[in-house]
Amino acid sequence: MKGLILSGGKGTRMRPLTHTSAKQLIPVANKPVLQYGIEAIVAAGIPDIAIIVSPETGDEIRQFIGDGSRFRANVTYVEQEAPRGLAHAVLTAENFLRGASFVMYLGDNLLQHGITPLVEEYRSLNCNSEILLTRVPNPSQFGVAELSSDGRVVRLTEKPKEPKSDLALVGVYMFDEHIFDAAKAIKPSKRGELEITDAIQWLLDNGFSVHPHIVKGWWKDTGKMEDMLEANRTVLDTFERSVRGVISGQSAIEGKVVVEEGAQIVDSVVRGPAIIGREANIQHAYVGPYTSIGNRCSLEYCEIENSIVLENSTIAHVDGRIEASLIGKNVKIVRTHRKPAAYRFMLGDNSEVGIT
Ligand code: G1P
Repeated sequence: MKGLILSGGKGTRMRPLTHTSAKQLIPVANKPVLQYGIEAIVAAGIPDIAIIVSPETGDEIRQFIGDGSRFRANVTYVEQEAPRGLAHAVLTAENFLRGASFVMYLGDNLLQHGITPLVEEYRSLNCNSEILLTRVPNPSQFGVAELSSDGRVVRLTEKPKEPKSDLALVGVYMFDEHIFDAAKAIKPSKRGELEITDAIQWLLDNGFSVHPHIVKGWWKDTGKMEDMLEANRTVLDTFERSVRGVISGQSAIEGKVVVEEGAQIVDSVVRGPAIIGREANIQHAYVGPYTSIGNRCSLEYCEIENSIVLENSTIAHVDGRIEASLIGKNVKIVRTHRKPAAYRFMLGDNSEVGIT
């Protein structure tokens, strides 16, 4: 089998971070979301992977993943010029995929238990496609499946206004070569895209077998900031305590905390689940539960929890506790003594600042 990871898209719901960075490279528990996907595919015994990139995301993703050897993968890149849908993306990679069945993985998705048992199930069932489903409270934001009483897929609808079930399509799919005929046969949806959901419906309508698998563990689609924070909480919760940095002064490291090499924690409290990245410097600070502090960040006289801070950022002398925040790379949030005493901002487009 081969692997196909979709890593294009504009990430509009994650601006301003996505003005300068691909959404799939935003870290969850200090690891880019895309890396979880690559590792899951490699762990399932599939090293040959194509990554679909967009003109906006391509350079950064190529730079991070390279030829994939760091992840024991063999990665090639395919550029999709415009976001014309997931089924269109499959067609752009047809040359790479032809002759093998494949797993398609949306680069912003995270699955708790990886995909190894699913790939094994697909291989053993000999069906044309396997789809993953999970129950969600807000099905109209996803592709939705209707199953018959004996558990067969009856109908798939992309983002229905009135969903017939709460079973959402998870962003991992397995296909054989019939999906190319399906993607060529369907028409663009109302949002102007060739929907993979419609292509799978075509498979059903034309007598091909589509096996539904209801996912037991958690699944996250990290398209929005709240989803990122939730994914961060969920992944941090699975960590074991591991302290490799230097702890000194009146510090307390409580619970499931990962402190990476070269990090320094001085006169501070870190309460897990939390991760402190390499060479981060935490002084007179409180890092509360469900927080990921990136490599080389500096925190001084501040309190933060339930947040993600990307690498090289500085937070200093902030009185109020920071919470539920997603802070990009090289950001500075510092108190100054310049006169007049005032707030001074330099914020990218679509930034959000909440002040008490
Ligand atoms: C896509 C699919 C949808 C699926 C979702 C999973 O939606 O079209 O069927 O449920 O991924 O993440 P999109 O993220 O493109 O809105």
